[in-house]
Amino acid sequence: MSSLRLPGLIDIHVHLREPGATHKEDWDSGTAAALAGGFTLVLAMPNTQPPITDEASLQEVLLLASQKARCDYAQYVGAGADNAGHVAALASRAAGLKMYLDQTYGPLRLDDMRLWMNHLESWPPDRPIVAHAEGRTLAAMILMAQLFNRPIHLAHVSRAEEILLIRRAKEKGIPVTCEVCPHHLFLSQEDIPSIGEGRSEVRPRLNTPEDQRCLWENLEVIDCFATDHAPHTLSEKDGQNPPPGFPGLETILPLLLTAVHQEKLSLDDLITRLYTNPRKIFNLPEQPNTWIEVDIDQEWTIQAQEFFTRCAWTPFEGWSVKGRVERVILRGQVAYENGRVLAHPGYGRSIREIGLSLSSGA
Ligand code: DOR
Ligand code: ZN
Repeated sequence: MSSLRLPGLIDIHVHLREPGATHKEDWDSGTAAALAGGFTLVLAMPNTQPPITDEASLQEVLLLASQKARCDYAQYVGAGADNAGHVAALASRAAGLKMYLDQTYGPLRLDDMRLWMNHLESWPPDRPIVAHAEGRTLAAMILMAQLFNRPIHLAHVSRAEEILLIRRAKEKGIPVTCEVCPHHLFLSQEDIPSIGEGRSEVRPRLNTPEDQRCLWENLEVIDCFATDHAPHTLSEKDGQNPPPGFPGLETILPLLLTAVHQEKLSLDDLITRLYTNPRKIFNLPEQPNTWIEVDIDQEWTIQAQEFFTRCAWTPFEGWSVKGRVERVILRGQVAYENGRVLAHPGYGRSIREIGLSLSSGA
C-alpha cells in the first residue's frame, strides 16, 4: 500500500441544490460527498430555487450552509436581468459572480449582451466572474475580458474549438482562465448508448472523441479541473425531459489518479488544477492543518451505492479505477476515514464571511 499526502482539494464548481431541491442533494449530503471525494472546500453555484441573486437569498443559503455543511465552502451569486445594480454589493461575501450565457438547468440565462456589460461594469474587478459560455458565446466572453480588461473564468470548456481559442487568447495576454470537467475528459458521445440517452444529458453536452482528445492535448491551457457536480435523481434522469447534469464529487479524483497511472498527466498537474490554481484564481485562503491521504495503488470498482451524494447514480458505474481517498483532515480534525464521514453538519466554515477565521479551529 502506498499512502500519499495531498493538499485538501478545492472544487470551484458544484451544485448542492439547497434551497429548493433537497431530494437531489442538500448542504449535508453534498458536502459529505465532497469529503469522501477528497475535497475540503467547495464553491456552490447559484441556480437553486430560488436562485441566489440578492441579499435575502444569499443570507438564506448562507444560514443553511452554516448549519449543514461538513466541509468549508463559499456561495456564488447569479447575474440576473435586473440585479446588476445591487448584486455587486454582495461581492465580498460571495465566491464570485456566475453568468449563465447559454441554455442550462434553471432560469438564470442572459441573452442580451447589454446585460453582460452592465454586470462587467459593476462587479468589482478584483472579484471572480465565472461564465457558462459555449462556442461562439465563449468567443464573445473572451472579447469582453479584453474590452473590460478584467479576468473572466470560463466554466466547463468541452470542445476542441473552445480550448484552441482560449489558447490563442492567452497567448495574446487576454486575462481568461478555464476549467474542464471529468466527464468531458473521460466520456464522449460514443459512451451515450451504454450510459443511456436520458442519463447522458449534460450541459455542455458530451462531445466527439476528437474534442475529448484535443482537451488532453491542450492540458497546459486548462487551469483547473472542476466537477460541475450536478445531481439529479435516477427517476428524473430516466423520466420525461431528463434534466442535464452528472454527479462528480466522488469520482473525479480516482479517475484522474488512474490517468496519472496511465501517464496521461502527472501528480503535479493534478495538484496544480485541483488546489494551486483554484486558490490563486479565486483568491481562496489556506485551510490550516488540512490535507488528504490517498492510497494511490488501491484498485476498486466505482459503485454509486457506496456514495454519499443523494442522487444515487454515476455515469462511471462499474469503471475500474486505481487510487482511493483514505482519510481527510480538515482544520486538524479527521473529517473522513475509510468510507465514513466524521465531520458533523455545521463543521464547515464559510471562507468568505468576515470574522470567521479558518484558524479559529472547530
Ligand atoms: O449539466 C448541467 N447541469 N450543466 C449546468 O451547467 C447546470 C447543471 C445543473 O445545475 O443541473
Ligand atoms: Zn454547473
